[in-house]
Amino acid sequence: MTQEAKLATEMGYRGLRDWIAGMEGLGELRRVEGATWQEDIGMATELAGRRGGPALLFDDIPGYSPGYRVLSNSFGSVRRIAYTLGLPVDAPPSQLLRLWLNKLRTSPLIPPRYVSHGAVMEEVHIGSAVDLLEFPSPIWHEADSGRYLGTGSADITRDPEEGWVNLGTYRVMLHDRNRLGFYISPGKHGHIHREKYFARGEPCPVVVASGMNPLLFLASATEIPPRVCEYDWAGGIRGEPFEVIQGPVTGLPIPADAEIAIEGFAYPRERHLEGPFGEWTGYYASGVREEPVIQVQAVYHRRHPILVGSPPNKPPDEQARFRAFLRSALLLEDLEKAGVPDVEGVWCHEVGGSRLLLLVAIKQRYPGHARQAGHVAAMCHAGAYLGRYVIVVDEDIDVTDLGEVMWAVCTRADPATAIDIIHRAWSGPLDPAIEPGKEGFNSRAIIDACRPYEWRDRFPSVCAPSPEMKHKAEAKWGHLLK
Ligand SMILES: Cc1cc2nc3c(=O)[nH]c(=O)nc-3n(C[C@H](O)[C@H](O)[C@H](O)COP(=O)(O)O)c2cc1C
Repeated sequence: MTQEAKLATEMGYRGLRDWIAGMEGLGELRRVEGATWQEDIGMATELAGRRGGPALLFDDIPGYSPGYRVLSNSFGSVRRIAYTLGLPVDAPPSQLLRLWLNKLRTSPLIPPRYVSHGAVMEEVHIGSAVDLLEFPSPIWHEADSGRYLGTGSADITRDPEEGWVNLGTYRVMLHDRNRLGFYISPGKHGHIHREKYFARGEPCPVVVASGMNPLLFLASATEIPPRVCEYDWAGGIRGEPFEVIQGPVTGLPIPADAEIAIEGFAYPRERHLEGPFGEWTGYYASGVREEPVIQVQAVYHRRHPILVGSPPNKPPDEQARFRAFLRSALLLEDLEKAGVPDVEGVWCHEVGGSRLLLLVAIKQRYPGHARQAGHVAAMCHAGAYLGRYVIVVDEDIDVTDLGEVMWAVCTRADPATAIDIIHRAWSGPLDPAIEPGKEGFNSRAIIDACRPYEWRDRFPSVCAPSPEMKHKAEAKWGHLLK
């Protein structure tokens, strides 16, 4: 089998257009014609995201040439997430997580390969020919302040001191024909890069890319460790380098087959109002603020470009679904790397947008094991940003089942001794529980819902049928439920 054929079998697609064809073949994508950017695209996306519906490809958008399309809800089902990661689409979620962990652990880092041409350069607009209004950027939520061109996109920056490149999914607001606003929460890699340029009094070069390989998008939206470039990480997962073009304006690496790429600079003292924009917590917490602006110098796109949208909505939404899966694997990795043994399950629950509620199951081995797991989960790279509750349970609890987890909390955790609070943890402007003007820090509750270690052997036994009795009951009395 050639390398190419092997890749096609493992990943099933090479770029976004292939991926769309694959999704259509699986019955996971619907085409929609005539929906408006002002209202319809946002409404339909919210509905599909909330109900676990199909990916939506909008065409014939009023006011735009046919072929100028918007894709949304790309990762709102387990099958689509599995397909994108090169995993069997019909495997049960628990098996998928194991397969994904295995892939994550065995994949090397593969840096991108520079090429001189790519489909993204089919149409080139420089300087005064730039017109960002040529794309049908939607208003995603009815109370948003404006159109957002970037949600399913990556903002590409380079660390001016260390030289490493980062891809981060940070929202991008359309200000006018050649200016974009971009909001990045403090502490994110793109924010650190941008602040380093500004501290030197220099403009920050930025590329905004949309419609790249879906795996690359998932990398960009995920907490990959600092100094690890998302191109290298996703290239390793794919088993082949991503092809990039050196941006003529910024020198930054642009995905060669992206649908759209925008090059420009953010200047240290230029700010413009950004927001309100509906956020992943399900609120408009950060309101409207002055944020840096990208002065756009060049726009490249494929013929009939596809703008990809992944707008946050009240969880559980599309984002919560794919991030629960990806972040749970990274959190498990971080726990193990920090030396926490016998972690039997991890789930960054969708109900908290995959951040506010982290669930960890362990097989207790020694006194303090549960607190160790809880505190590491709350503070490691995958779990640290804008968390709220971490619940640690014994291994008999299924962490993906919120009913089971809360049963453990209600029956095994005595509040006076079971809860630790961490103060002044990493939060930010998007935290709805912090009084306006005081955002930055928040607190964490670590709930130890394991049987207390020192008398775990005397803890009342669970009143539920044994697996054998369950099986017997199913066989004998299952007909009563049909
Ligand atoms: C659709 C989507 C939109 C996001 N928007 C933002 C945003 O506007 N600002 C932000 O700081 N993080 C945002 N995030 C979260 C970051 O993408 C995520 O934390 C990622 O790990 C950041 O990359 P970094 O770890 O390289 O900083 C968004 C994530 C998704 C999936």
